[in-house]
This record gives sequence, structure tokens and C-alpha cells, in this order.
Amino acid sequence: MEIMGQRSIVAMPGDGIGRTLLPEAIRVLDAVDFQADFVPADIGWEFWRNEGNPLPRRTLDLLEKHKIGLFGAITSKPKDQADRELNPDLKNKGFVYYSPIVGLRQHFNLDVCIRPCRTFKGNPLNFVKQLDGRMIEPDINVVVFRQNTEGLYSGVEWMHPPEKVRSALETHPKMAVFKTTPDEDLAISCRIITRNACRRIITAAFQYARRWGYKSVTICEKPNILRETSGMMREEAIRIAREFPEIPLWETNIDAQMMWLNKNPEDYGVIVTSNMFGDIISDAFSGLVGGLGFANSANIGDGCAIFEPTHGSAPKYEHLKPSIVNPIAMILSACLMLDYLGETDKADRIRAAIGAVIAEGKVRTYDMLRMTGGPDVVANGAARTESMTNAIIDRL
Ligand code: NAI
Ligand code: MG
Repeated sequence: MEIMGQRSIVAMPGDGIGRTLLPEAIRVLDAVDFQADFVPADIGWEFWRNEGNPLPRRTLDLLEKHKIGLFGAITSKPKDQADRELNPDLKNKGFVYYSPIVGLRQHFNLDVCIRPCRTFKGNPLNFVKQLDGRMIEPDINVVVFRQNTEGLYSGVEWMHPPEKVRSALETHPKMAVFKTTPDEDLAISCRIITRNACRRIITAAFQYARRWGYKSVTICEKPNILRETSGMMREEAIRIAREFPEIPLWETNIDAQMMWLNKNPEDYGVIVTSNMFGDIISDAFSGLVGGLGFANSANIGDGCAIFEPTHGSAPKYEHLKPSIVNPIAMILSACLMLDYLGETDKADRIRAAIGAVIAEGKVRTYDMLRMTGGPDVVANGAARTESMTNAIIDRL
């Protein structure tokens, strides 16, 4: 029953472990007395197979209505396999598989992606470094702001480009070196960046830094080489930084940033970057604080937002009973949703409970114990998915 004025969240479990983990996050949300209806919505492989569309129109309609989604994970398979697994009645009817999560980002223009990477004290997966013969475990608290819709993911690519494209490109002097390369041996990708998208992601990064008290915003690009695209990001960062005089703007190049995160990851606060670099840096930072079992994200657009763990559907483990995968990434993604909705006190309670369970160290999923996943991990001391969620709920 829908109570008048009650908030509705579109719950999209998707495939594989997404189906196990989304309900776990909802159990935690219930436990902090978050008041909402969860409206189940279809997305993923099953809908590709049976309907020829992994992201049915009815799911888009629900998101258009309710504006907030909590998403588990989907399974994507290569083109030939996608065609093979399509329902025989739908074959050769022009259905083409596409990633529904990329589809959601594009459809709702979810251009601001937020990926927090924070140390929980006592997590055996934490980054450590040696200093004067001592091991130290620095506190990492980095939040990556990734432009989510443009750049190398805009999808404007050709292999064997048409003549018009080639001649347009040849108006650029740097194309001269490719003059003798035959069309069929030429693959081209466009890194398209718009000023509006630069401004939105950079402004979001500074506002976040201000709201949560981060001491710096780093613009991470490569303007010495990508002079126009990274150049525009840098130009806008410098301009927008003036509106936030209390927050210093740092500049790094993507390559150097990857080196710095292996040396001094604790020095960084908010990092803002374009699509591909953001994908890379956020995975790299998440590896310092526990990896896929902890990596959470928000995809925020103008009026619509979707929250998801960054891991996939882990098909290897989808049929394991009991489930062994770590629910923390999914639960932290639900916390980002609470932050977005202004329910920060509830999100903080959940994060504190997660911190307490990790610090105590009694309940750890297989990934936290550096085990290889499989049916025997519970017998070897790893917690089941459900036990981890229960431990978090007990600590609320
Ligand atoms: P994956 O993230 O599903 O799994 C890689 C490995 O990471 C797993 O085998 C497991 O060892 C570990 N892992 C992942 N989540 C975990 C968790 N919560 N707790 C503990 N360990 C965890 O990536 P993979 O194997 O490359 O892709 C599997 C499927 O997921 C593919 O079909 C891929 O297309 C899809 N995928 C979907 C994403 C999404 O829905 N946003 C993102 C990435 C992949
Ligand atoms: Mg990724």
C-alpha cells in the first residue's frame, strides 16, 4: 500500500548477486527506520532474453515517476553470446544488446558520478606503507567525482571511417602522419567534452568538498597532452575554484596521480576528472580501501539519481547457497542515497555500524580474509552475506 506522500524508491536488483545484495541493503534501511516504499523494477539479462530489451520502457517510466533508484548489478555478455541467448521468437528481429546501466546514465543524463573511497579501521584489506621500518596504515578519505556521460564514453567511434569523417579530420594538421594509412586500418575514437558538463561535475565536486569539509579539490587530467579536452576541464576548474576560496585547487596529471596514490593516497580529498580517468582512478583508490566489496557509487543527474555498488553480478557466486559475497558496497551505496535525500543521520548510523563491525573483526566475508571464493569459505571462517548484514544491523 502506498501511503500518501511517502517516498518511493525504484529497486532494481538486476542479475546475479545484485538479486541477493539489494534486499540486504533494504533490510539495513528498514532497521534505521527509513520510511519508503520500494517499487521493484525489471532490468538485466532476463529481460534481454525474453523481451529483447535489458532496460524495459516500464522501468524508465518508474524512474521518471519516482526519480530515485537503488540498483544491484547486471550481467552483460559479448555480442555473439547475447544473440545466441535471445529467445528464439525474437531472433533476427533487429534486437541489439546494450548495457542497461550505461543506458540509464545516458537516458537520465546522470552526469555526476560520486565514488567515495574511505578506510575503515581494522579492515585487513587496507593500504599500508612502510616508514622507517614501521608499518603504518594511513587513513584514506578520497571521493572521486567522475564525469559520467561524455569523454571517451560518448561512443562516437569508427573503425574504417567514412570518407566524410576522414576528410573532416584531415583539416587538422596532426592527421598528416596518418595520410597513408588505409581506411580499413584506421580506428578512431572521439573524446568529446562539453563546457556545460565540465562545469556541472566541477561545481558538484567543490560543493561536496565544502559541505563535507574536504581540504582540497584536485583536478586530475592531462592538459599537457590533451590540450583541448583536458584543457577545458582545467580552465573551468580554475574558474570555478574562485567561488570556493577556502578550498585549494590542486592539479595532477592522470599518470602522476596513479603514482601518488601508491605513495600518499591519504593526502587527497575530492578528486574531479573526466569519464575514463574517473573510471580508472576510482577503481585504483577503491583497491586501497578494500576493493569491490566496498566500492560504492552515486550517479546523479538533474532531478534523478541512481545508487549502486561498482561491482558486477559476480556470476561465479550467484548460485552459491549460502551466499558469501560482501554486502558492504551495496549497503554503502544505500547510504549515499540517504545522504542525497537529506537523511544523513541515518546514513551516518549505518556507516558507524559498518565501522564497528569491521573494527571488531569477528565477522568478515571471504574477500576480507583474502580467501578465494567458493563453497568452502564459510567452513573456513568467512561470514555469510546474511551474517555480515545481521552484524551491521546489530550494531546500529
Ligand atoms: P564482478 O564485479 O561481477 O566480479 C569480479 C570479482 O570480484 C568476482 O568474481 C568476485 O571475486 C569479486 N566480487 C565482486 N563483487 C563482490 C562482492 N560484493 N563481494 C565479494 N567479492 C566480490 O566483475 P566481472 O566478473 O568482471 O563481471 C561479471 C558480470 O558483471 C559481467 O557480466 C559484467 O558485464 C557485469 N558487470 C556489471 C556491472 C554493473 O552492473 N554495474 C559492473 C561490472 C561488471
Ligand atoms: Mg569500472
